[in-house]
Amino acid sequence: MADAAVKISGYGDDLTVNGVRLGDLSPAEHEAIEKEKGGRNYSPLENVVVSHVMDDTTLICRKPDPSGIKAYIEEELRDGLCCYSAVNQGQLNQMIVDAVIAHLTTEKIPTVPRSIRHKYMAAFLLATTAVTKMDRVVPKVAGVEAPELMAKLSRRWGYRVKGIPQNEAILVVADGNFHGRSLFAVSASNDPESREDYGPFLPGIESVPFNDIEALEVKFREKGDRIAAFIVEPIQGEAGVIVPDEDYHQKVSELCKQYNILLCMDEVQTGFGRTGANFAHQLYDVKPDLMACGKAAGGGIMPVSFVGGRDEIIGVLTPGSEGSTFGGFPLAAVTAVYAIKALVDENLAENARNMGARLLKHYDDIKTDFPDKIKEGRGKGLLTAFEMWDQPHLDGHKVSLGLLKRGVYAKETHHSTVRVAPALTIKSNDIDLIAEAVRDVIREL
Ligand SMILES: Cc1ncc(COP(=O)(O)O)c(C=O)c1O
Repeated sequence: MADAAVKISGYGDDLTVNGVRLGDLSPAEHEAIEKEKGGRNYSPLENVVVSHVMDDTTLICRKPDPSGIKAYIEEELRDGLCCYSAVNQGQLNQMIVDAVIAHLTTEKIPTVPRSIRHKYMAAFLLATTAVTKMDRVVPKVAGVEAPELMAKLSRRWGYRVKGIPQNEAILVVADGNFHGRSLFAVSASNDPESREDYGPFLPGIESVPFNDIEALEVKFREKGDRIAAFIVEPIQGEAGVIVPDEDYHQKVSELCKQYNILLCMDEVQTGFGRTGANFAHQLYDVKPDLMACGKAAGGGIMPVSFVGGRDEIIGVLTPGSEGSTFGGFPLAAVTAVYAIKALVDENLAENARNMGARLLKHYDDIKTDFPDKIKEGRGKGLLTAFEMWDQPHLDGHKVSLGLLKRGVYAKETHHSTVRVAPALTIKSNDIDLIAEAVRDVIREL
């Protein structure tokens, strides 16, 4: 007998759950439901609800009707964030959508566990190892699972290959890092908000300042015998797009080799063309021993993440020692293959380089016109941010709201820094429109 407590029907705006039809809900009603039924672990922008997308970089949003007659009005919103770099290929990238539809309808992809082979795993492994130039790849699902797996692989490699005494391995991380929300990730974090009352934290994690090669060398000199890995983002995204000195990663790589310590790069946000190279480590001419990918690895369609790395390190895995129900399942495998095809065939890294340079030039011009407000614009490719001087009225959240009013979505990372990281398919006129909106908002502050 059907459960009378749950009645679901329709699609899209007609999707109705227990008599509540989505097309009838005002932005305030959406907010009320989320506040009453959700985890309240986000505080999204108020009075705006995304309904669908218009094109690769434009969202259609619902806002309160100023006349108060309708539940909402719909407006275009230029997406300057693209889901924190999960949608590098552009919203609903046709190449990826076609592949997914074909595979669901014509090819009829089954969902099968890893205990039986499926034919798409071969394509996934061939494509991911080719694009990353890594020996082996292990699929996972959420972004956070990839740095988590790097931590596990590093520890096991430390014991089995490097010869660190059992349970004494140290993982070194960088201050200001963001590797996600798992217990490893928050144990590695030094952000009080992410950690409060989640202890006890994982032991064996030590942090050094980012972009400080001397501090890393001191740590390696003191404890190098027990250090398995240095886990680092090539450019710190969540910390506010912190770009290290040009020679930092070269020196890190040399130090890691000298002390037989793995260099593990978290490219969950910087990978897949975002910074103007397919992977940000290529900008610095280094090669990590392990690399974590996520976000755009699923083309903005499916959660896909993976760890790529050297044979000797990933080779420490054995059946039963690691796994994931949906890691590399057929639909994820196909989506990732086409996310890679879009990255390569649509020259996304090159466009990120060109459009990023254009955006940074706009920041410079705005800084020249408002030197008392803008401290600097920075970034690589289309992972960019502008930072204002640290003054109460130069408020990043106010800037986000001002941009929203002008039809642009971008979000502050800290009080005075605003990140702008649109889809890598973006064209120059949209870059100019975003910059114009930034200029207008800064003028009014
Ligand atoms: C560098 C980095 N690692 C890991 C993650 C976690 O990814 P997810 O939120 O998909 O778990 C993020 C998310 O922003 C990230 O920027």
